[in-house]
Amino acid sequence: MVEISPRLSMMASLVDGPARCLGDVGTDHGYLPVFCVQQGVCNRAIASDINEGPLTRAEKNIRAYGLLDRIELRLCSGLSGYQPGECDWTSICGMGGHLICDILQAALDAKGIAVGQSFVISPHTNEEQVRRFLCENGFRVLREAACEDAGHIYLGIVCVYDGVSREISKVDAVVGCSTILPPYYYDNLVRKARKRLAGLAAGSRSDDLEVALLQDVIRKVESL
Ligand SMILES: C[S@@+](CC[C@H](N)C(=O)[O-])C[C@H]1O[C@@H](n2cnc3c(N)ncnc32)[C@H](O)[C@@H]1O
Repeated sequence: MVEISPRLSMMASLVDGPARCLGDVGTDHGYLPVFCVQQGVCNRAIASDINEGPLTRAEKNIRAYGLLDRIELRLCSGLSGYQPGECDWTSICGMGGHLICDILQAALDAKGIAVGQSFVISPHTNEEQVRRFLCENGFRVLREAACEDAGHIYLGIVCVYDGVSREISKVDAVVGCSTILPPYYYDNLVRKARKRLAGLAAGSRSDDLEVALLQDVIRKVESL
């Protein structure tokens, strides 16, 4: 059995399987699809990456675990190498929030996502932007999870594409609204908000809207 990090383990646990086919976009080492096939989280998988180096790494690992017959490798950007609905679950993990939104936007523009397709997403930056993008672009957020791994806090988001655009408030985009997350997730948000408020107070120019949002974030967390 392959050993994976707590972060990847959390992502695997968010797949409400067994999935028919899991697509892992930006697979790099390929550990997530290997783990998911080994654990019966999915029956088969597609491991894709935009770069040849990571895909070669994934192929080596998939071969080492004897799973080349169940995990297909694809060299492609984002979801461009996938048919809409080919995977019932897709993971996009370990990338910045901007890149994740760009990948999803490109797939939507190409009509490359089918209604009912589920996603597990883990942005390493710009969580607020990702939540907003998902809500406004037809992805229904079902739940979120967080874990601590090697001194970092990671977020996982489960969503399904239904094509319905939704509004999300500025505070909910920062704090999340589908799930109560572990206390350390919120402690980190409040710590960052307080630090930013102190920075703004010390500076010469203050942004009233940003100050109000940061105060709302702290109030919302305190009310949970
Ligand atoms: C930091 S690694 C994350 C690997 C793995 N998903 C994880 O969470 O451990 C990011 C990977 O995404 C790939 N990548 C970056 N942009 C991409 C894109 N537009 N489409 C597919 N893969 C991409 C990179 O080549 C790299 O292998």
